[in-house]
Amino acid sequence: MVYHLGLTKESLSGVRVALLPGDPFRVPKIAEEVMSTFGGSCSELAWKREFRTILVSGKVIVTSTGIGGPSTAIVMEELSMLGIDTFIRIGTTGAIREDIKPGSIVITSGSVRMDGASTHYAPPEYPALAHHELLSALIESAREHSLKFHVGITASTDTFYPGQERTDSFTGQLLRRFQGSTEELRRLNVLNYEMESATLLTLGSVFGLRCGVVSGVVVNRCHSSEIDKESLSQSENNAIKAGVGALKTLL
Ligand code: URA
Repeated sequence: MVYHLGLTKESLSGVRVALLPGDPFRVPKIAEEVMSTFGGSCSELAWKREFRTILVSGKVIVTSTGIGGPSTAIVMEELSMLGIDTFIRIGTTGAIREDIKPGSIVITSGSVRMDGASTHYAPPEYPALAHHELLSALIESAREHSLKFHVGITASTDTFYPGQERTDSFTGQLLRRFQGSTEELRRLNVLNYEMESATLLTLGSVFGLRCGVVSGVVVNRCHSSEIDKESLSQSENNAIKAGVGALKTLL
C-alpha cells in the first residue's frame, strides 16, 4: 500500500487514468460527470488527509492533490508506482490577461516553474510541458462542449499571496522580486496563475507519462484579487466538462 494515498495496485483494478482536482470535495462532483458520460458506478477507495480517491465507471480514478507542488508530487509519485500513466489536472485559476473572463477555462500548454517541488526532479532549464495528446484531447473536448477556452502558458507558483503578487495578505508586503511580477508575466504572454501545473507537468515529462491541465477561471487579476463567487461553480463545471470529455479520446 502506498503510504499517503492509502491505495494498492489491486484496489485500482488496472486503471491507468487519473483526474486530479485539488479539493477533496470536488472529487465526487467529477466522479458524477464521469458516470453521466460513461455510465457505471463509483466507489470511494480511500481518504487520508487531503488525498481522496474515488474509482469511477471501472475506467478512471479521481484523486485530490491538495494545494500546491509538494502534495501534488506525492500524488504523482504514488499513483505512478501503482500503474497510472495519464493524469489530467482539473483545477481553478486566476487569469492575468484582460480578455480572459471568469467562467471561461484555460488549457495549459506549458508552465513557468515558479514552484519548488519540480526543482527536486529537474534543473530549472527543463521545461514543464503538457503532453501533446492531452493538449489536443482537452482542446477537442472544449470545442465539443462549446466552452469559452484559452490555450497557453501558465505561471505556477508556490504561494497564493506573494507568489501571485497579492497584497491583501497579513503583512501586505512583497519581496522586490514579486513587485511588478504580474505585469512582467503578462508581457511574456503568460495567461494565468495557479499552483500545481509546474510540478505536475515537469514530473510527467521526467517520468515519461502523459499529463495535461485544465483550469476554470475564478478571478481576473486585472480587476480584482478576490475570487469571483458568482462564477466559481460555472468555472468549476466547465473545467470538469472539458477534463472528463477529454477522456473520450484518451481511453
Ligand atoms: N488559484 C490560484 O492559484 N490563484 C487564483 O487566483 C485562483 C485560483
